[in-house]
Order: sequence, then structure tokens, then C-alpha cells
Amino acid sequence: MDVFEKVKGNKGPLGQYAKEADGYFVFPKLEGEINPRMMFRGKEVLAWSLNNYLGLANHPEVRETDAKAAAEWGLGYPMGARAMSGQTRQHEILEEQLAEFEQKESCYLLNYGYQGMVSVIDSILDRKDVVVYDSEAHACIIDGLRLHIGKRFVFPHNDMENLEKQLNRAVKIAEAAGGGVLVITEGVFGMSGDLGKLKEIVELKKKYPFRFMVDDAHGFGTMGATGAGTGEHLGVQDGIDLYFGTFAKSMALIGGFIAGTKEVITFLKYNMRSQIFAKSLPMPCVIGAMKRLELLRTKPELKQQLWTIVDALQSGLKAKGFNLGNTESPVTPVFLNGTTPEATNVVFDLRENFGVFCSVVVYPVVPKDVIMLRLIPTAVHTLEDVEYTIHAFSQIVDKLKNKEYNRDTLPVV
Ligand SMILES: Cc1ncc(COP(=O)(O)O)c(C=O)c1O
Repeated sequence: MDVFEKVKGNKGPLGQYAKEADGYFVFPKLEGEINPRMMFRGKEVLAWSLNNYLGLANHPEVRETDAKAAAEWGLGYPMGARAMSGQTRQHEILEEQLAEFEQKESCYLLNYGYQGMVSVIDSILDRKDVVVYDSEAHACIIDGLRLHIGKRFVFPHNDMENLEKQLNRAVKIAEAAGGGVLVITEGVFGMSGDLGKLKEIVELKKKYPFRFMVDDAHGFGTMGATGAGTGEHLGVQDGIDLYFGTFAKSMALIGGFIAGTKEVITFLKYNMRSQIFAKSLPMPCVIGAMKRLELLRTKPELKQQLWTIVDALQSGLKAKGFNLGNTESPVTPVFLNGTTPEATNVVFDLRENFGVFCSVVVYPVVPKDVIMLRLIPTAVHTLEDVEYTIHAFSQIVDKLKNKEYNRDTLPVV
């Protein structure tokens, strides 16, 4: 049989809705400069779906640095993988700066956070090791674990009692095999905004021998007194053995990093296949990242402004009776009761009639008949944006309760 046979009439779990959803619910095109106000299908919308937490994407100093770096170096520099011909002093300087910022001995850049995480897991674990991870871990963690040929145990999201059970099993198996245990969770869970139980997990290190890795994609730059992340926020940065961050959120860029002890990071540098066998991070990204890191460190007002917006949005929505789950971070999920067709009509109404653009998540990511609208506040939103959005949400929830979105058909987009 032809290997391509399967794709006929089968586009996969998301692709099955391509005809109705493409360009609107999935792969929508937001146009114009990255800002809270962008164009969607020819109309201005108030965008709450960009992980541009600190508003750096369009910050004048950032834009200037990016443009200068691109003009000076070109997008192709340096050519080759770092291990071969793509190493530069600037890459190393950025790593030194990130290590210092994260209070770790050492750091290594990753071309994309996703690929980097896959390779961190792949290279640090061998068949004798056992890994224990949170059930809501990001796809990059799950995909890294697919490469792990040893045992792995999952604990239900943030369930510390269950984690202990898994640790008991894991430690016994690892000890018998002559391996070790790695626990992986996230600092800020990107969908629900709740925090990983980093404090509790670090505490468990007193009882069980394991190493601890945290994916802090959404916490880096948004959490902690200096923006160093969720470990700093919870006062347990020292207890995190491997700290992973991406440039794709607070830094509004591409790339990521892994930080830890010099010995471990040197091992990763020489063993992460996605970095050894792939081209180096382009120089404009490295120089652009340095500029962003400088702003992140020296302009605390960016994070303060982000949190002013977060607090206004979250407290305003809560005051109107909205259920925001357990978020303790800028990620703002709004849980409503409704079916998937209702969800599409809600989103359509929000975008077309209220000019509010946010992401929507439905079954099977959330339980049946739950609609999750996800808002990402940024430092460049205004309190007027917040007020307007809360007003829009209050109206759509009334319509939802009155069954006004209860149509069999999906909106024609
Ligand atoms: C929790 C988490 N980990 C990892 C990643 C991957 O990062 P990147 O976009 O840099 O590949 C993301 C971003 O999508 C994320 O949300």
C-alpha cells in the first residue's frame, strides 16, 4: 500500500475541521504590527492571543537592535552548527548573561525551545533512568519522552500525593537498574496559568533521590522579583537542577536555553542532537536576545505594567463571576459552559461584533461542554482594553446562558 494512502480523506485530529475552521479558528492571520490592536480579515481587533508578555515584540529599542543586527550580520550568519562552524563569541556571551540571570553556573542556547527540550531529555536520560512527569506537560516534554527507552511514570497534574507514589516506584526501579530519576514539570502551565508545585517537589528531594527539571516557558520574564521565573517567584531556584526557558514568549523572539551546573551543561552541549546536527541560532537572534534580556533586567516597569493589566483583567473578570480556574500567572483562562458548536459561535461573535480576538480551547483538551477562552495580557494592553473586554465577555456569557449561540450549524466564515 502507498504510505500516502492514509492521508486521503483523513487530515488528523485537528485537520478534520480544516474546511470549516482554516483561516478563522485555526491558522487565522493577524496582520499589522504586533500590538494589542491588529487587523483580522480586514477589521481591527483587540488581540489577547499573543505571548508578547512584556510588549517587547514592537519595542522601539528592540526593533532598532534587530534591524541593525540584521543589516550588519545578515540572517544567515553564522553558517553551520555550533560544533562545526557556527560558534561565535556572542553566542557564548548571551549564555553567560542568561546563566547569571538565572543564578546557574552555566547555560546553553537552543535553536527552538521545542527541539531543545526534546534533546535535553533525550541526551540526559539513558535506558536505566526513570522519568516522572506531570500529566499536563507540554508537547515538547512528551515528545522528548518518546525518545526515552527506559521507564517513565506520569503523575496527575500537580497531584503531590500521586507524585510520591510514582517516586517510590521510580526510585526502586532506577536503583535496581543502576540509573537515576528525573522529575519534570512546568513553572507556569501555559494553558491554565496555574503554577507547577515547585516548592513541594523541591521539598521531596529531601526524601527521594532525584534531579528536577522545570520548563518555565511562560514564567521566564513574567514571574519572580527580577523576572528570572517561577523558581525565583517561589523561592526555590536553587532546587531546580535544570531550568529551561524559551525566547518565544516574554522575549518575543525565537530560541531558548537550558541552564544548570557547568558539568551538566557541558555534557548537554556535546550531546544534544538537535543542536549538534542543526544550524546555529542566527546572529540577529542572539544580538536581539541580548537586547531583550537587557530590557527585561533593567526595566522592571515592563513587568509591573504587565501585572497591572493582569491584575485588572483577572480581578475584573472574577468580580463579574467568571471562572478563571487556578491561574496565578498572566495566562488567563476563562471557563464557560457550552458545546463545541456554541464555542465557535461565541468566538465568531467576539471577533466579528465585539472586535475581541482570543484563543479558544474545546473538548478533548478541556472536558466536554466546557469552553475555555484564553486571554494573554501584555504590558502594552491598556486598562481601557481590559474594561472593554470584560464588558464584551459579560455580554457573550449572557447570550450563552440565553442559548443564543445554540445553533446546529457552525458560523460561516
Ligand atoms: C511550556 C512550553 N514549553 C516549550 C515551548 C516551546 O518553545 P519554542 O516556541 O521556543 O519552541 C512552549 C511554547 O510553545 C511552551 O509553551
